[in-house]
Amino acid sequence: IKHLRSAADLDAATATLILDTAAEMAALAGREVKKLPTLRGRTVVNLFYEDSTRTRISFEAAAKRLSADVINFSAKGSSVSKGESLKDTALTLQAMGADAVVIRHAASGAPHRLASWVDGSVINAGDGTHEHPTQALLDAYTMRSRLGRLDGLRVAIVGDVLHSRVARSNVLLLTTLGAHVTLVGPPTLIPLNIADALSPAAKVSYDLDSVLPDMDVVMMLRVQTERMQDSYFPSAREYSRRYGLDLARMRRMPEHAIVMHPGPMNRGMEITPEVADSSRSTIVEQVANGVSARMAVLYLLLGGKA
Ligand code: CP
Repeated sequence: IKHLRSAADLDAATATLILDTAAEMAALAGREVKKLPTLRGRTVVNLFYEDSTRTRISFEAAAKRLSADVINFSAKGSSVSKGESLKDTALTLQAMGADAVVIRHAASGAPHRLASWVDGSVINAGDGTHEHPTQALLDAYTMRSRLGRLDGLRVAIVGDVLHSRVARSNVLLLTTLGAHVTLVGPPTLIPLNIADALSPAAKVSYDLDSVLPDMDVVMMLRVQTERMQDSYFPSAREYSRRYGLDLARMRRMPEHAIVMHPGPMNRGMEITPEVADSSRSTIVEQVANGVSARMAVLYLLLGGKA
């Protein structure tokens, strides 16, 4: 594949190749091989129109570990503030010889538009409420490395599904790889027919307590208060009481089951600090795995092997 705009761009074989390559990247890092020459002379542009900590830093680290030249573009402080369009910004990057553009944008579909304007590969680093495919890849990688498989794994994705690009990409990728996904949250934060629209293998539940004993993975989502204008949201206290993961709820999960969160977290809202910092939480591991997963994506897309 040339671009990674959606988790739907990945069939099972390609997704597995990316996860296997990420494992090789992690193994090399574990053997103190800090840098590979693979992308020497190639240019990766990080084009961030929305704030990010994990995704932006890990794409930069991934590209540098592959010896690529990295240009970091943040909309704040650029000519975007003078009204320059995404298309004109893209053509400027094109003129500078970008081999890959990693884009985060508030508009759903921005990576698809970008791909029609630039010659290089386009990688979606989160577009509006639509998708965040490399987050799904690092999440799948984390599940596979902790639990040994993805096929047949039972995964609950819990909380503000309505605004979550992480949820959408995870449903697409995990069901492609044979996992059983249940979306859990208040009815006002789960779009009608979302499971059918994304995958016939996904289900919906409004009752967190009843699903926890059957899960291998419980992935908590950030409540996106900044996108909440048009949606009904119960009070933070009521939300936590019904859908927050605390120690009592975590104990309802099977002993082997893990707790995930893509970050950033609202500690005390969707997850308590005791759960976030517990040995069953993979939250810090997910960040580390993000570098390996993004190295694999850059390597395979720019190396033309995926
Ligand atoms: N998970 C995630 O996308 O985090 P950032 O917004 O910090 O990149």
